[in-house]
Amino acid sequence: MKFLERELAYLQENHLYRRLNRMDDAQAARTVVNGKECLLFSSNNYLGLTEHLEVKKAAREAVTRWGTGAGGSRLTTGNLQLHEELEKTIVRFKKTAAAIVFNSGYMANLGAITALAGKDDVILSDELNHASIIDGCRISRAKTTIYPHRDTQTLEKLLRQTQGYRRRLIVTDGVFSMDGDLAPLPRLVELAEKHRSLLIVDDAHATGVLGRRGAGTADHFNLEGKIHVQMGTLSKALGSAGGYIAGSRALIDYLRNKARSFIYSTALPPAVIAAALTAFRVIEQEPQIRENLWVNARYLRSGLKQTGFVTLDEETPIIPVFIGDAGKTMQMAEKLFALGVFATGIRPPTVPPGTSRIRVTVMATHTREHLDSALSAFQQAGQELGII
Ligand SMILES: Cc1ncc(COP(=O)(O)O)c(C=O)c1O
Repeated sequence: MKFLERELAYLQENHLYRRLNRMDDAQAARTVVNGKECLLFSSNNYLGLTEHLEVKKAAREAVTRWGTGAGGSRLTTGNLQLHEELEKTIVRFKKTAAAIVFNSGYMANLGAITALAGKDDVILSDELNHASIIDGCRISRAKTTIYPHRDTQTLEKLLRQTQGYRRRLIVTDGVFSMDGDLAPLPRLVELAEKHRSLLIVDDAHATGVLGRRGAGTADHFNLEGKIHVQMGTLSKALGSAGGYIAGSRALIDYLRNKARSFIYSTALPPAVIAAALTAFRVIEQEPQIRENLWVNARYLRSGLKQTGFVTLDEETPIIPVFIGDAGKTMQMAEKLFALGVFATGIRPPTVPPGTSRIRVTVMATHTREHLDSALSAFQQAGQELGII
């Protein structure tokens, strides 16, 4: 077992060793981490719905009515009325014919990709796709070819070269989780149509956030009905847990029969489903929450840029603050924490070597005062470390 110590020592020497931070309070703009009060600037709870009174009440009431666990997989005894109601809600929200809920976004990607692709197929995957997509591709045993980030020219070349395969899948994050930029969906839809390929879009970070209705990247780009497989999570802006696939009736029926991560796992518990259901209603009925998010995202992004940090121009609540070196990134995260801001450093293998960054996210529940405090902490930490 010597290899365990050797590998851990290697990770430590290269600033790649991972440690858990302990949340001592709720997932709110002001919280307590590792016993210290601080402002939270890395959560995916974009709309603050984990703390929404109606959402919490729905979870409590679901426990009273349905108990704590689902008691079985969806195909045995775990298919509660609530699960079906949630799937109907997703159908209305995504404007698709059908939807299926998985126990997590990770399992949705794994289940869908492995069900749709096999050894006779090819998957064309953006180089910055999320690990759950990468793992789905690996387990599927399909030939997987990675195309450079958002590079539709190379993708088209690859589509021309792969005509002999049984099926071709193009798979991409809608909003890239670590960079916050958007996939070039209008072009991807054209390419998928032209080359008769299946398009899978992971809307984990777009669900509840992007588009006029908050329905995700298809809503944002006016491409509703054009994306074959739309994946999303209930764990980020929705403030709950779980993942889903939305698409045609045949697709969902097929996944119910073939997606192993759907079939062989106990269904999500009632409180989680009830919270997600109510979160969808809140998103629809309280659009000002999303307005706040956008106002905050613009303010913080432009503030960080003006302070001299390198980030991207994209308009999402994910703002990568690029540092480059893994060690320096972790020093920056520590300094920020000492100054009362909890924002996590992201290093390889989550991001490519040399692109380590602080992954800053904004929430609708941040106040102007919170944002200004974060900006001054970033300025001070950045200056002390010679980053700006
Ligand atoms: C792009 C993307 N896809 C999928 C997932 C997995 O979702 P979940 O956390 O619900 O398992 C995540 C989040 O970690 C993600 O960022």
